[in-house]
Amino acid sequence: MDLSQYPLSEIAAKVGTPFYLYDAAILREKMADVAAATEGPALQARYAMKANSQRKVLEAAREAGLWIDAVSGNEVLRAGRAGFPLGAEPPAVLLTSDVFRDNALEVVLRHGVVPNVGSPGMIRALAEAGYRGDIEMRVNPGFGHGHVQACDTGGPSSKHGIWHEDLEPAIAMARAAGFRIAGLHAHVGTGPQIREFDENMAKLADVFGALLPLFPDAVSVNFGGGIPHAYRPGALHFELGHFRTFLLEAAAMLSGIAGHAVRVEIEPGRYPVAGMAILAARVTDVKATRANEKGPGNTFVMTDAGFNDLVRPAMYGSYHEISVVGAGTNRAPEPMVVAGPLCESGDVFTRDDQELLQPRPLGRPDPGDLVVLHDAGAYGAVMSSNYVSMGRAAQVLWENGRASLIARRETLDDIVRMECDEAL
Ligand SMILES: Cc1ncc(COP(=O)(O)O)c(C=O)c1O
Repeated sequence: MDLSQYPLSEIAAKVGTPFYLYDAAILREKMADVAAATEGPALQARYAMKANSQRKVLEAAREAGLWIDAVSGNEVLRAGRAGFPLGAEPPAVLLTSDVFRDNALEVVLRHGVVPNVGSPGMIRALAEAGYRGDIEMRVNPGFGHGHVQACDTGGPSSKHGIWHEDLEPAIAMARAAGFRIAGLHAHVGTGPQIREFDENMAKLADVFGALLPLFPDAVSVNFGGGIPHAYRPGALHFELGHFRTFLLEAAAMLSGIAGHAVRVEIEPGRYPVAGMAILAARVTDVKATRANEKGPGNTFVMTDAGFNDLVRPAMYGSYHEISVVGAGTNRAPEPMVVAGPLCESGDVFTRDDQELLQPRPLGRPDPGDLVVLHDAGAYGAVMSSNYVSMGRAAQVLWENGRASLIARRETLDDIVRMECDEAL
């Protein structure tokens, strides 16, 4: 995002720091790009709303013509509130979860939302609850890739889906329960490099081709999400045009095998939303440690945003581009570690996936400057917490040259609202 377009200091003065700023134009453009890449009856994109479930984002997905992949009962209901039809045919909202928790089963039963089952236990749970509709089946195809190992979404170390060699008993179980298996699903990578993503998609097409004869009722095959976003400056941007060609070929190949039309679906989460947001934080101090026998010294830029606001660097060592706005903008870059307010050593935005500090060349800011973490629209606000009773950051939407508050900062009253003292 080109920061010169936004009155960041004015917004900060109004809503406080840290805050998320979403650019509606970028959001719409990216949603439209995904819609264009999947245009036509053979293809369909579902927005994986786990990446960002803010109502404005869901509305943009709906207006672009995307459908939804939800992963909890409440996500399904939020999609409904944003105008997606629940229980529609074909299913505009799919529920992909590893476990039916809270109201997930009730939402399936009451709203007719199609569940995407990832374990025999989920089939049993549906049958016991009296469900009698369509299901989809999530397969673990034996391979997958994540931007770190913790994000592996397929293969022996992944908990997702039913192992590809163990499908037949699960299919028999679903049939015995009277379910029609209307779709086949896999998600094999989240945040991989472009080459790995392309390779995984090609392998997945072959796996789906081999498995499809086991699923004679399948009318859709879902290749999951994971379209890479270019987080690092200079990184290659994913070519959606080539991907469309691949998806159309896959749809033709799979329809040929099935002997009827098979819709090919994808469900990107990160791709349409990562680049439409920043997290802006206030610099409170700049301080240094000195080298000793334990290691080199570091310069720390202390900010008021922490891993409670954006957890990806602390959790996965994820890279977010960082800019200084204010006096430090034009100063010669020096290696700086950008850190937050939490009493946690890992509360640092510039670290790698081995938890090692990775100082960044930045102009030395003055206290009071802003520090901006870029590409914070995916798995940012949704993964934030109120750890140490700091309220979740405000969310601001920038649209047609104007800022509006779309989620206020969480207050102490919000935080303590659930506390109670009730006999059970
Ligand atoms: C089933 C499923 N689909 C889609 C996605 C979206 O992945 P991404 O945000 O990397 O596109 C995820 C993310 O983990 C997922 O679990």
